[in-house]
Amino acid sequence: MTVTVIVGTQWGDEGKGKITDLLARDMDMVVRYQGGNNAGHTVVIKDKTFKLHLTPSGIFYSNVLCVIGNGVVIDPRVLLEEIQTLQSSGYSVNNLRISSQAHVIFPYHRDLDSAQEQKHEAGRIGTTSRGIGPCYVDKFNRRGIRIWDFSNEKVLRQKLEWNLKEKSFILNNFYEMKVEYNLEEILNEYLGYYHAVRNLVVEESSTLINEAISKNKKILMEGAQGTMLDVDHGTYPYVTSSSPVAGGACIGAGFGPQEVDEVIGVVKAYVTRVGGGPFPTEIEGGVGDTLREKGGEYGATTGRPRRCGWFDGVVLRHASKVNGLTQLAITKIDVLDSFEKIDICTAYEYDGKIIKDFPTDISRLEKCKPVYEEMPGWRESLSKITDYQHLPVNAKKYIDKLAELSEAKVSLISVGAERGQIIKL
Ligand code: GDP
Ligand code: IMO
Ligand code: MG
Repeated sequence: MTVTVIVGTQWGDEGKGKITDLLARDMDMVVRYQGGNNAGHTVVIKDKTFKLHLTPSGIFYSNVLCVIGNGVVIDPRVLLEEIQTLQSSGYSVNNLRISSQAHVIFPYHRDLDSAQEQKHEAGRIGTTSRGIGPCYVDKFNRRGIRIWDFSNEKVLRQKLEWNLKEKSFILNNFYEMKVEYNLEEILNEYLGYYHAVRNLVVEESSTLINEAISKNKKILMEGAQGTMLDVDHGTYPYVTSSSPVAGGACIGAGFGPQEVDEVIGVVKAYVTRVGGGPFPTEIEGGVGDTLREKGGEYGATTGRPRRCGWFDGVVLRHASKVNGLTQLAITKIDVLDSFEKIDICTAYEYDGKIIKDFPTDISRLEKCKPVYEEMPGWRESLSKITDYQHLPVNAKKYIDKLAELSEAKVSLISVGAERGQIIKL
């Protein structure tokens, strides 16, 4: 068994990019298996900060093959920008591969995403407006356009023409927008993108991945978003349109579940969420503001301020169950350095009863009140500690509590954004 899956255990932005970059050094392959440029994965190498939206976070190692898998939706304009940024910083993308089965985001997907959010005020999700949902809708409705379609201009033209007609009708008539799409312009623009990345496209990315598996290569699956944004296991409908959970890796990369060796849950030492939807431990003002400022909690993709709150053990237990977590990578524990007391939610109170299983039905979830256990803070800086033994006793107790709640072992503790700020256990 050679596959390790990295998943977010909360509502995204747990620090998956940092952990992926860290582990990628010892890997042969890193694969993104779902989501698109709604993701923003930050990697900090010395004084340089990279925010990756589509490229796997193993790209900084030239000997690591980085694959954008079949389950990802690709906005080629964003991908090209990202490639150019990497190249101008001295990183080659010769180690990047793009699955020909990945679906492509077109302008009408972005327009539909925005239109839905504007028109459907009551049901506004607070999406990243990158066109992710509408692109996955087309995929599952079997109307999507894949990278593969670009190899046959006639087929591409037919599919695009149909989509432009359908989407402009919906946007103009139902959403009352004034859109006019020019087939030739879009076709030429997108063919230009395709030609720019064509040499990186692989016909069957799953063949590439399975060959690597059969040679016992080490492969890291880099999840985007997080468990609570999963379309099945998250806080539906306030979720994304893909399956960030560990099982999603098998589908979005094309390999069997028996190959998975480890599932690493990335756990932020407190909780954040961007966009709408329930968030039981959210604190508006006070501690919430302090966490936002100390943790720099502003979206890596949209720049939106992230909602913040205390750690939620019920969420972690849920994530542990639906992903089959075997390890935890705890991040941003340094953000809690200055707190005298830290609360941890260990259960919810619902309808006069104490519950420990996460209710994914939001009408029940909205009535849940967190039950907190207070823990003493450590009140010293952790940012330079690289040895577990040197951690203050209260920080160790906090970490032990998180491990106890998930029943998984802690293997990594991140104490700062930079690559080297890590404690390995
Ligand atoms: P991702 O989407 O899960 O990859 O996470 P993001 O990159 O969106 O957000 C995580 C933010 O926290 C980024 O700005 C990281 O540079 C930063 N970060 C990651 N780990 C740590 C840590 O241990 N401590 C601190 N202070 N910042 C961290
Ligand atoms: P990473 O990989 C945090 C959220 C959006 C919104 C919901 C649906 O960086 O952790 P979408 O555009 O996907 O249809 O929006 O999901 N969201 C994220 N929140 N981190 C992310 O990615 C996210 N990707 C989507 O804010 O609430
Ligand atoms: Mg992010």
